[in-house]
Formats: sequence, C-alpha cells, structure tokens
Amino acid sequence: MKFQLEKVIGHRGACGHAPENTLVSMSKAHELGIKWVEFDVKLAKCGELVIFHDSLLERTTNGMGSIANHDFLAIADLDCGSWFSQQYVGEKIPTFKQLLSHVASLNLGINVEIKPCEGKDLETALQTLDHLMSHWPVASQPPLISSFSKIALQAAANWHFPLGYLINCWDSSAWEEVLDHCNCIALHVDQKILTPQRVAQVKKKGLLLLAYTVNDTARATELFSWGVDAVFSDFPDRILLEA
Ligand code: G3P
Ligand code: MG
Repeated sequence: MKFQLEKVIGHRGACGHAPENTLVSMSKAHELGIKWVEFDVKLAKCGELVIFHDSLLERTTNGMGSIANHDFLAIADLDCGSWFSQQYVGEKIPTFKQLLSHVASLNLGINVEIKPCEGKDLETALQTLDHLMSHWPVASQPPLISSFSKIALQAAANWHFPLGYLINCWDSSAWEEVLDHCNCIALHVDQKILTPQRVAQVKKKGLLLLAYTVNDTARATELFSWGVDAVFSDFPDRILLEA
C-alpha cells in the first residue's frame, strides 16, 4: 500500500486522553477519528521491545528505576494507567508485538519512534526493524520510522522504510548531513523552534516536515499555513477540526 501521511498524528496514541503509549491510548486515537499514531520503542533488559517513553519507570508506572535494568517479566505486571486516572488502573506496558497487532487491527498508520536506552541505539534499531519485517502486515501502508539517534537511523537506512530525523535544536548543516546520509524523507522538528523561513528551507529540499507537539489549534493552523505537513498532538481531535 502507498505511504500516505495524515496531517494529524496522535502523540503516544492520544496521550492527552489516555495513558501514553498503551493499547488503550491507541484505541482512543482511533475512536477520535485519528488515522495515524506515534509511539516510542525501547529495549528492556532481556531484549524484549516495549512501548515506553522515559528511561525511568517512575513517572508513568508503579515501578522504580531504569527500564534498561528490568527484564520484561519484571515490568509486565506494572500498572501504567493509574498515574493518569483511576479509569485506567491495571493498564500494562505493551510489547512492540502486542502494539503492532493492535494498531494493525485498527487500521492505523504508524510512526515508530526508536528511542533507545543509553548505549542501545544499534541493538534497538535492528530489533525494531526486524520486528516490523516479521509482524507488520505487508498490506498495510509502510511505517514511518523516526529517531533522535543518528546511529539508529544509519542502521535503518538500507531497510527501505520511510525515515524521519527528529531534532529539537536547529543546525541546518547537521540535519542536512543526517538526512542525506540516511536517506530520510522527513524532518521531525520541535514546533517551538520553527519559523516560516525554516519551514521553507525544509520544503525547498522536497522533504516532509512534521512538528511536535502541537496541542493548540491556532498554532496548528499557523504551522499548516507555513507548509508544515503534519503535527503530532496529545489532543489530536482538537487539531483535526482545524486541519
Ligand atoms: O516523535 C515526536 C515526539 O514524540 C518526539 O518527542 O519526547 O515526545 O518522544 P518525545
Ligand atoms: Mg515520541
């Protein structure tokens, strides 16, 4: 199927409405009429790929310490919903495999952000790509793979998935080099550092430009008017009305 990006991408599912990076957050995005979701992939100690944003367990679970030091069995039973609301008590950290099966069943387009634990860039990227080859339905549109990690993107460069480079500070020669070197088709930029001139510079190179994280409808309208192709939002339903 052809790669067709949507203008509004649910951030970590729809993480303003449901606990981030969970199956229920993906379902929520789907319920809200969102067609694409983003989520973060990292490796737990035993080599299991899981959907999780932080290096530490504390903020979003009832566990403690670094996720890199825990086997999946040790985190599988953690509660990652009750920090968000009592409605989500008992929500679990999904494995990548579980998540892929869930979003494929909802027919969602996906942006897989490779977010390695420290020093695990190559391993995380290779396992993520291998999982996608084995578990993502061929009939679905290809996943957009992104990362702040140059090592991860380099590892992905020859796998024929569309790639995006994530940045949070502006250095044109640095991002141009990574994009060229890794055959990226997209630049994913912190919306706070975007200006009309910067958007024009990216678009002139024929790249897709995605902006994170946009929860304000007026800001989304402004970014779209500058030529931004898509925005990530915790409240994608708000932005959908403007897109
Ligand atoms: O992929 C867009 C956005 O998710 C990048 O930042 O920290 O929310 O993963 P972060
Ligand atoms: Mg992310």
